[in-house]
Parts: sequence; structure tokens; C-alpha cells
Amino acid sequence: MTTITMKQPVDIRQILQLSPVIPVIAIEEMAHAVPLARALVAGGICVLEVTLRTEHGLSAIRAISQQVPGAIVGVGTLTKPEEFTAASDAGAVFGVSPGLTPALIEAARQTRLPLLPGVMTPSEVMTAREAGFHTLKLFPAMQAGGVGMLNAIAGPMPDVTFCPTGGISQENAAQFLACKNVVCVGGSWLTPKAAVLAGDWERIKALAMAASSLVSRL
Ligand code: 3PG
Repeated sequence: MTTITMKQPVDIRQILQLSPVIPVIAIEEMAHAVPLARALVAGGICVLEVTLRTEHGLSAIRAISQQVPGAIVGVGTLTKPEEFTAASDAGAVFGVSPGLTPALIEAARQTRLPLLPGVMTPSEVMTAREAGFHTLKLFPAMQAGGVGMLNAIAGPMPDVTFCPTGGISQENAAQFLACKNVVCVGGSWLTPKAAVLAGDWERIKALAMAASSLVSRL
């Protein structure tokens, strides 16, 4: 990994700055994709991470990109290089990975897909920075040490910003967003499984409205 010198083609931070909260979405039924995205956008949350954790991931990215005006759709749970091209072809304009490997760095360079790579330790932050990534996903954020970890990293590495994800909720999101190195937070709390399965789009919209009122320091 130390031999890789690629620079990010587009700054992912510009995309993340458009929303204080990025919902982490797993589509269980294809019919949910478009109404769910519409509800989030109607509630003021426009940057959406649709994960590849379910079989509908790519189809959902395509449908939302084509049918939901205002949605900025990214692909989440990128763990294999071949997924970059497939997601990009489906309409994803950014990517999120739980970690970072040399193969993912090369795939991001080749597809020019702005990537938010995952890190959990100071050494991983330094390795990602050497590869040209200055905005990173702290994952899993709570297990990594939460706000305390982010503040500790800000000392030696003040030029790196984060989107912490994992264990974040409406209740603790403001504490994370108050950190001087947090551009936005990610989480699944905007899309509770029960509400999605019930087609309760008003509930999703209300959760999005509450989240969109949060503010980042950056
Ligand atoms: C992620 O993939 O980023 C996390 O699993 C989301 O974590 P959460 O469900 O705790 O919000």
C-alpha cells in the first residue's frame, strides 16, 4: 500500500458537505427504493448511500438516480474492485467503503468515482492519506472510540476530516458534528426497517427533517 501515490480525482468532501447526515440504506424490496428516496429528499436529506448489502443495491441506485430529482446517489459497502464500474454504470456519483485496500484505490482511480474509504486506526488514517484520501469514514465509529477518538486524531492529523458511521443516532449525532474534524455523519437510523417495510414514508420524511436540521462545524 505504501507504493501507491494516486490522488483522489474528485474531492468527496464537496459531496458530503451537502448534507449533515448521510443515510446508510439497504433496500430489501425493490419497490421501496424510489418512495424511500423521495421521502428522504422531501425531508431535506439529498445525499444518499445505497449499499450493496442486498441483491437490489445496483437496481435501486439506477432507479433512484433516474426517478428522484434532487437525490445525489452513492454506492455503499464497496468491498471489491469490480463493484466500482457496476455502481458507476448504475448512476452512483460517489462510493463508500468500510475499509481501504490497494485494489480499491486502483478501482477508484480508474473509474474516477469519488471514494470515502473506511478507517479505524491512526495507521489506517495515515495510509489512506498517503494514497491521497483526506476525507475518511471512521467505521465503526462507536467501537473505534467515538467522539473521543475523533478529537484525539485531530491533534496529530488536523488535515484529515471524517464522516463517522456506526452507532450514530439522532440523539448523539450533534456531539459528533460538533467535532472540528467531522464534515457529516452516516447512519441507518433514518430508515428503520419496520417503517420501510410498512411503507411509512411520512415517518421517514419526519426522521429526515429532524436530521437535516443538524449542523456541522465544517
Ligand atoms: C454502516 O455501514 O456505515 C453502518 O453499518 C451503519 O451503522 P448504523 O446501523 O449503526 O447506523
